[in-house]
Order: sequence, then structure tokens, then C-alpha cells
Amino acid sequence: MSSITIQKSETSKIDQVDFDNLPFGKVFSDHMLVCDYKNGAWESPRIVPYGPISLDPSAKVFHYGQTIFEGMKAYKDENNSISLFRPLDNHKRFNISASRMSMPEIPEAHFIDGLKSLLKLDEKWIPTASGSAMYIRPFMFASGQGFHASPADEYTFIIALAPSGAYFSGEVKVKIEESYSRSANGGVGYAKTGGNYAGQFYPTQLAKKEGYQQVIWTDDHEHEYIEEAGAMNIFVVIGDTLLTGPTSDRILDGITRKSVIKIAEDLGIKVEVRKISVTEVVAAAKDHTLKEMFGAGTAAVISPISGFGFRGTDYKLPELENSFGSQFKKIITDIQYNRSEDKFGWRVKI
Ligand SMILES: Cc1ncc(COP(=O)(O)O)c(C=O)c1O
Repeated sequence: MSSITIQKSETSKIDQVDFDNLPFGKVFSDHMLVCDYKNGAWESPRIVPYGPISLDPSAKVFHYGQTIFEGMKAYKDENNSISLFRPLDNHKRFNISASRMSMPEIPEAHFIDGLKSLLKLDEKWIPTASGSAMYIRPFMFASGQGFHASPADEYTFIIALAPSGAYFSGEVKVKIEESYSRSANGGVGYAKTGGNYAGQFYPTQLAKKEGYQQVIWTDDHEHEYIEEAGAMNIFVVIGDTLLTGPTSDRILDGITRKSVIKIAEDLGIKVEVRKISVTEVVAAAKDHTLKEMFGAGTAAVISPISGFGFRGTDYKLPELENSFGSQFKKIITDIQYNRSEDKFGWRVKI
């Protein structure tokens, strides 16, 4: 356990929050964890009141985009006990992102123990209404100064907490994107770094104008293989087979994706992890063997896709009772909210 200093906020904002109508990621708890990297080493983490931070205008994060983040959730059960879902995987992925962006890795003690201390302090902020959870945003950016295009010598790591409701409201219709690319071979697609998301905003805005909520990215080379969507990995059900593309240096190795594959195998569902071509998905939609498409990610959990657009034509997905997607969602959320046995060992109580 690293030594963490705690400076409590003098007043709490909790009474101003409507916990029955929480937006996603817009309300913040009373405290945050901050840890600085200076002179080649991490200093001790400190918990301080949540609030603005001050940076030099030449901080390299503003100019060269050296910034990474994670997305996690904490869940409260009926007895007010708090759990995390596979948090060591988030820590591991954070450090994979850090290495790719030439940033220092953060020790497990700072990340995991720091998070646990912060959650305990702001425990009352963890929502309990159905579908809501404490969204956790660990992030790191280059706070070191200078306009030279090279890695910074100072970094700041922060964990902020946002009690949140559902990520999507309403149906999710997606556009299969053929003009723009999210990432390329040898690039940074597998890292959770800001530019990957900024680069998606413009094509996604164009898709929104056409009536879609999300873009499904295809490979940058041929635009023929389905990759991922926004902040979710993508699954397709054709016939009775569950398909998802393999991870690569273009795709984020999603923790929800890994969990879905494991649960599906456990349920005896036929799973194929292989390249999925747009041609086969369109053909399956036409001959009605396409049963489901859904996104999988921490924020949205399992998000059923109601239809997709490709080259100006819209294809509708059937509405199924007891879909694979709904079964996975139930199993995952039952583990997360401590409503079922945790046979895979994913739940971490704090
Ligand atoms: C680009 C991208 N793909 C997939 C995911 C899903 O990953 P996870 O299930 O670990 O949240 C996310 C969210 O973190 C993401 O940002």
C-alpha cells in the first residue's frame, strides 16, 4: 500500500445531486486522486477536493496529445457493499497505453489502492438506482513544459469519479463507415489515448446528421472488415454463431469483449473470433440469418444495435426475445452488482 495523503473537502455537493436522474459522466464526486511524476519517479498520491487544475500553457499534453485514460465502474449492492469488475485488467491496459505514448507506467499500488481509498471516501456518491454505477476515469497527461516535439519530463495522474446513469438512451442505429478510418496498422488504435476519440468525432457527427448514433469502423486498408464502434467492441450473431473480430494494433482489447467471449463459451454458444466482412454481414441481413449485432464496453455494457446503414441502404435487425446480447448483459451485470455467484473470479470487493 502506498502512503496516500487525504485532504477532505470542507463541504459536500452531494445534496445538490438528483441521483434518480443521473446523466452519464457529468456529475463529479467531492474528491479526486492526484499523483505527480517528477524527476523520473512517481510521488505519493494525494486525495484532494475535486476541482480545476492549473497547467502551464506549454504543457505538452496541449500540443502533442500525450494523454491516456481508462474507463471503469464501481457497483453497490443491496447491502451497500462495493465491487469493481476486473480492475487489474484496466491497470494493465493503462500501462500498455502509457508505453505506446512514451509515458511512464503507473504502479499498481498507486492505481488500485489509490482508487480503493478514493471510493471509500466518496462511498455515498455511488448510485444504486437500476442501470446506474460510479463511472471511474483514471487518466494521465503530460504536464511537463516546452514546445519541443518530444516526450515530456513530467506527468500527472488523476482519478475522478462520476456517478452515472445509462450511456445510451433509446435505440442504437449504426453506420458502417467506408471513407474515414479510426486507426491504422502500426498506429495507436489499441491505446486509450485522446486522439483516437477526437478523430472519431467528425465522422460520427456526419453519421448523426444521417440519423445514426454511432459509426462502425472498418479496417483502414480495404474498408471490408468490421472493427469496433465508438467506445465499444462489436459482436455479430449469424445463424447460431457469435462472431467478433480479433484484436490487433488497431483495436482496443476490451474487457467486456473478453468477458462476453468467456461467458458465451461457458454457455456452450458457438463462438468464432475471426475477421468479419461487411459483405457477409450484408448478405446475412438480406437472407435473414443475421440475428443480432451489439456493442460491448464498460460504459454501455451490452448495447443492442437496432439496425445498420451501408452505402445508403438501411438494414433492420430483428427484435428477439432472450437474445444472446440480453443473456450476456444479465450475466455480466449480475456479477458486477453482486447478485450472482462470480464463477470467473472477476469481482473485486473493496
Ligand atoms: C475504442 C474502444 N473500444 C472498446 C471499448 C470497450 O472496452 P471495455 O470493455 O474494456 O470498456 C472501449 C471502452 O473502453 C473503447 O474506448
